[in-house]
Amino acid sequence: MRLSLAKLLALSCLYEVSQGSPVPLGNEYQLQPYNIDLSSRVPRMLDLIKGTKLPAQPVYINTGTSAGISLSLLESFQTEWQTIFDWNREQEEMNKFNHYTAVIEGLKIHFIHERSEAEDAIPLLLVHGWPGSFLEFVPVINELTQNATTATGQNVSFHVVVASLPGFAFSSSPPVNWTVADTARVFNTLLTKVLHYDTYATFGTDWGAGIAYSLYSQFNNTVRALSLDFLPFQPYTPAQLAAENITLSPLEEFEQAEATEWENTGEGYFIEQTTKANTIGLALYDNPVGQLAWIGEKFVNWSDPNAGQSPSVLTHNEILRSVSLYYLSECFASSVVIYQQNANGFSTVYTKANNDAPLLFSAFKYNVGFWPPAVVAKTGNLVLYTNHESGGHFPGLDNPPALLEDLREIATYWSN
Ligand SMILES: *[C@@H]1O[C@H](CO)[C@@H](O)[C@H](O)[C@H]1NC(C)=O
Ligand SMILES: *[C@@H]1O[C@H](CO)[C@@H](O)[C@H](O)[C@H]1NC(C)=O
Ligand SMILES: *[C@@H]1O[C@H](CO)[C@@H](O)[C@H](O)[C@H]1NC(C)=O
Ligand SMILES: *[C@@H]1O[C@H](CO)[C@@H](O)[C@H](O)[C@H]1NC(C)=O
Ligand SMILES: *[C@@H]1O[C@H](CO)[C@@H](O)[C@H](O)[C@H]1NC(C)=O
Ligand SMILES: *[C@@H]1O[C@H](CO)[C@@H](O)[C@H](O)[C@H]1NC(C)=O
Repeated sequence: MRLSLAKLLALSCLYEVSQGSPVPLGNEYQLQPYNIDLSSRVPRMLDLIKGTKLPAQPVYINTGTSAGISLSLLESFQTEWQTIFDWNREQEEMNKFNHYTAVIEGLKIHFIHERSEAEDAIPLLLVHGWPGSFLEFVPVINELTQNATTATGQNVSFHVVVASLPGFAFSSSPPVNWTVADTARVFNTLLTKVLHYDTYATFGTDWGAGIAYSLYSQFNNTVRALSLDFLPFQPYTPAQLAAENITLSPLEEFEQAEATEWENTGEGYFIEQTTKANTIGLALYDNPVGQLAWIGEKFVNWSDPNAGQSPSVLTHNEILRSVSLYYLSECFASSVVIYQQNANGFSTVYTKANNDAPLLFSAFKYNVGFWPPAVVAKTGNLVLYTNHESGGHFPGLDNPPALLEDLREIATYWSN
């Protein structure tokens, strides 16, 4: 049986809106709805959490937070996980979104796709990092699809796509020697060939910033706006800033100092994951409390100290559901591989992307990297730089209103 191209396209569009129907003929990318169902793995997780013995007394005392997660914090997480946390309730919440998988270059890619009612809405790809997941963007997805206005009163709404990186949640593990540029190519195929968006905007955080920047660099016809809160380039040192006569405001001075502190004391995990990904990956693969210590410390340390209180929704429950997603989807070992595969993912050599499309940058006070406007401008067509007094490395969780406002500004500069 042969079908015309037009018919295939019609089928694939029809398929997109009619969840649950059988996979149509000619569905080249095997696009299909996806329902999260990890409930059968929960009893084992709870047994392991309960059966994990922690020391009766702190071992390395009087270190505050400088030696990593404290015993008391880990214990309180362990208790909350067993007593209050409810995976099935969280999973139900997650399944309120339209999840799909598609197969691109042999990799199964999981993503959420929520369309605006406005046909002319801007397609927007949101890209997470480590130890994040699609959950980082849950607080902003629905609002982004709603009709809203920019600061100058322009109408704006988005068709939102949140894709899981290879190795994370329900996406396949990355093949050997897979790089950030490869993931960018696969995501561009997702937006243009699977979902049929001719042009789109993208936002990325952490490794997602590297992927979004690679999209902006490689696909300058389709990626027509870029928004970032992190750069895939090493932050400038104070000496480099001074050499270029870049002066900082008091807020920027604070952010610069935080970033320097992080470089000096916060990158142990980075070196481990970049050089011995299998050791840490396998050590924690079947160890939920171990994953909580390793990942939970990052959520706590890299976010606003006000985490969990408005505007932040980064509560302990939120951290527990992120770690549960890693454990239950069995992705911890494959998630850390990105570090070793992209050992030069945060280069000291700045390059400017060959893309005239607007670049918007959002700085958050407690983020772990800091790049002043003059430095960000070296990498692309910087049109807007916003600095926020609250929020950190997970803006979708620790300052969702600010992220929402900044993303909506894409409309001010959007021209296709
Ligand atoms: C949003 O705007 C679009 C047109 O831009 C319109 O079709 C739609 O009904 C609006 N939705 C709401 C909820 O107002
Ligand atoms: C903006 O949206 C409102 C309500 O959806 C609509 O009445 C108005 O015409 C829109 N304005 C423009 C410039 O599209
Ligand atoms: C992966 O990269 C290494 C180092 O460049 C190379 O030796 C190896 O052949 C590559 N493997 C594959 C399967 O491409
Ligand atoms: C920085 O300022 C000094 C003194 O005003 C000047 O000599 C130098 O050329 C400037 N450097 C840059 C990179 O602008
Ligand atoms: C984060 O870790 C640094 C050391 O790397 C420590 O100085 C700081 O107090 C920690 N902050 C929080 C909020 O845990
Ligand atoms: C895209 O990049 C090419 C070079 O790689 C450049 O010639 C072209 O002007 C760029 N187009 C846009 C729209 O930025």
